[in-house]
Amino acid sequence: MPITPTQKIWMDGELVDWADAKVHVLSHTMHYGSGVFEGIRAYPTSQGVAVFRLADHIRRLVASARILMIDIPYSEDQLIDATAQLVRVNGMRDGCYLRPLVYLGYGEMGLNPLLAPVKVSIATWPWGTYLGEEALKRGVSVKISTWRRHDPNAVPTAAKGVGMYVNSSLAKIEAIKGGYDEAVLLASDGRVSECTGENIFIVRDGALLTPPTSDAGALDGITQDTVEVLAKDMGIEVRHEPLIRTDLYLADEAFLTGTAAELTPIRAVDDRPVGTGTPGPMTTELQRAYFATVRGELEQYKDWLHLVD
Ligand SMILES: Cc1ncc(COP(=O)(O)O)c(C=O)c1O
Repeated sequence: MPITPTQKIWMDGELVDWADAKVHVLSHTMHYGSGVFEGIRAYPTSQGVAVFRLADHIRRLVASARILMIDIPYSEDQLIDATAQLVRVNGMRDGCYLRPLVYLGYGEMGLNPLLAPVKVSIATWPWGTYLGEEALKRGVSVKISTWRRHDPNAVPTAAKGVGMYVNSSLAKIEAIKGGYDEAVLLASDGRVSECTGENIFIVRDGALLTPPTSDAGALDGITQDTVEVLAKDMGIEVRHEPLIRTDLYLADEAFLTGTAAELTPIRAVDDRPVGTGTPGPMTTELQRAYFATVRGELEQYKDWLHLVD
C-alpha cells in the first residue's frame, strides 16, 4: 500500500511540511521499538468529513503509553484537536487514514527508555481499502500462522506498541509467501487470538462469536466493539468465547475487523472454504451497517463521528 503524500504532518505541536517530517537515526524508538501508535480513519459524510471514534482511539493511545510508562506531553483533548486540525489543513474531504505516533527521540541510548524525550507526530494520507476492493466483496483467504501471538506477560498485547508488530509482520510474511491474504495468530495456549492487524469473528448457529480479547492476547478493537454494538442492535446474539482453529474451519461465516481492513469477509481458512466460500448473509448485513455508520448514514450512531469542520 504506497503512501500518497499530503501537505502537512503534525509534529510536537507544529505543522511541518511532509518532506521535512524527519527524525534522527539515533532516535530511541528506531532501535528498541519503544513507542505506541494508533490507526484511525475519517470518512466523508453529508455534513463533511468526520473522524470515526476519534476520542476512543486517542484514549487507547494514551492507555498504550501508560502501559509502557511513556508520559505523553499532551492531553487527550489536545491530541483530538490536533488530529481534527490536520484533517482540515490537508483538505482530506474524501476521508483519510490517520497515524498518530508517540515515539522516543534522540538523546539517550540503552534499554532504559525513561530518560528519552517523548515525541508525538500525527500523519494523514488517503488510504483505500487495506486488503483490496476484491477482499471487501469476495473475502480473503487466511492461514493459521506458525507464529504464536505474544503471551501478554511477555509483551503487553493490550498496548498498541511499535516493536510488538514484528510478531504481526512475521505472520504476514508467512501468509503472503504461502499465497494467502492474511494470517490468524493463535495465542500461546493454542486458542485463536486475532489476525495481524484485525480482530476475528465467526458466525455459528445464528450467533456472532469472537475471542475474549484479554484471554486471547488480542487488541481491544474499536471496530470489533462497533460491530458488536451494531449486531446487538440488529437483535443478533453476540458472545465472547474462546475459539480453536477447527471453530474457524467449521464456521458458517467468518470475517475480520479493523480500522484499516474495516469489515472484511473471510472466504477460506487453511484452504477450507468458510461456509459456501462466499460472504454469508450476516457478514454482508454487518458490513453494510458498518459502512453506513462510518459515513454518518445512521442517525443513532452519529455520536461516534467527530466532524472536523
Ligand atoms: C493487532 C491488532 N488487532 C486488532 C486491531 C483492530 O483494532 P481497531 O478495530 O481498533 O482498529 C488492530 C488495529 O489497530 C491491530 O493492530
